[in-house]
Amino acid sequence: MNNPRGIIGIIEDELARQGAVSFARFMELALYCPNFGYYERTQGSPGRDGDYYTSVSVGPLFGELLAGRFAGWLAAMPGGKRQILEAGAHDGQLARDILRHLQTHRPGALESLEYWILEPSLNRRHSQEETLKEFTGRVRWFDSWDALPATGVNGIIFSNELLDAMPAHRLGWDAAGGKWFEWGVALEDGRFVWKKLPKLDDGVRAPVLPEELLAVLPDGFSTEVCPAAVQWWRHAAQVLSGGKLLAFDYGLMAEEFFAPERKHGTLRAYYQHHASRDLLERAGEQDLTASVNFSDIRDAGESAGLTTQTFATQAQFLTDIVKALADDSGFNEWFAPRTRQFQTLTHPEHLGQSFRVLVQSR
Ligand SMILES: C[S@@+](CC[C@H](N)C(=O)[O-])C[C@H]1O[C@@H](n2cnc3c(N)ncnc32)[C@H](O)[C@@H]1O
Repeated sequence: MNNPRGIIGIIEDELARQGAVSFARFMELALYCPNFGYYERTQGSPGRDGDYYTSVSVGPLFGELLAGRFAGWLAAMPGGKRQILEAGAHDGQLARDILRHLQTHRPGALESLEYWILEPSLNRRHSQEETLKEFTGRVRWFDSWDALPATGVNGIIFSNELLDAMPAHRLGWDAAGGKWFEWGVALEDGRFVWKKLPKLDDGVRAPVLPEELLAVLPDGFSTEVCPAAVQWWRHAAQVLSGGKLLAFDYGLMAEEFFAPERKHGTLRAYYQHHASRDLLERAGEQDLTASVNFSDIRDAGESAGLTTQTFATQAQFLTDIVKALADDSGFNEWFAPRTRQFQTLTHPEHLGQSFRVLVQSR
């Protein structure tokens, strides 16, 4: 833990040893290096004082709507113990919003329910335990899929902005050679710089595109692939013994990545609410994210035996919940802050359009 140069020193040391690493490895260290990575430090929290907003930092409504929807799904499932498993729970705020709503408006749903959090980071777990003190005994933590009971999850596995925070590989199109190459990161004159890697990293599969599109794709067109997100989803699907697997995320279908306006790819950095393409700057101090390839995620779930139930914008998904729960005691009062939160969550220029929801079921 003792590294006086912090995360920059840790990355520099690795680059000095390796020469160059994939961008995914750089992103992994910058975001998740124990104790030093962006998400390891308490400052890396969404909201006004952070670097970016999420649906959770908008206010409790997002969690309340999910609680209403989840309660309906769980009630329709066969009896016995059920679980809600959240991953990427960050500071525990969303779990608290969901549990508080269930406790007040659906106490019956809580009786046979356990709330599980999948959290590999000890620092994050401590922050979640603090936020969720009022639910001590009801929430259980697991640091990996392997730590879960062999019976898996009977209920709901979900995440908000988890997959877009997973380390992504950055690829470039070599038009003359008719092939994709991978961008790595190297150290030059004390600075992190982009460097073409001699071959694609292990486990990276270049996108398969129609010949007509490849013929017109400009030289240097950049895109990302994220095997870590696909693998995570496949694992989640295998662990789900019955119920729903869903993700809310900033994302696109495969073909949308190749629109002319995305020639630089979708990787971006967030620092104090400004988005930039300076991905190699401020390592450990800025958020790094790439749009999720929902086609890949959907296919991974279907190959693991899940059925795709919904792929919708966040606006559609949340509006449907509000319509379905119009007579529910938790949603019959629309006071001003709640209405404002709903507008932010669903407005196309805020979080309504670019955030999408994939729901699969077993
Ligand atoms: C952008 S934040 C989302 C925070 C929160 N869900 C929200 O909506 O406000 C991404 C979170 O995912 C966590 N994370 C990344 N990879 C993870 C993994 N494999 N398992 C569980 N959490 C992970 C990060 O530590 C971070 O807390």
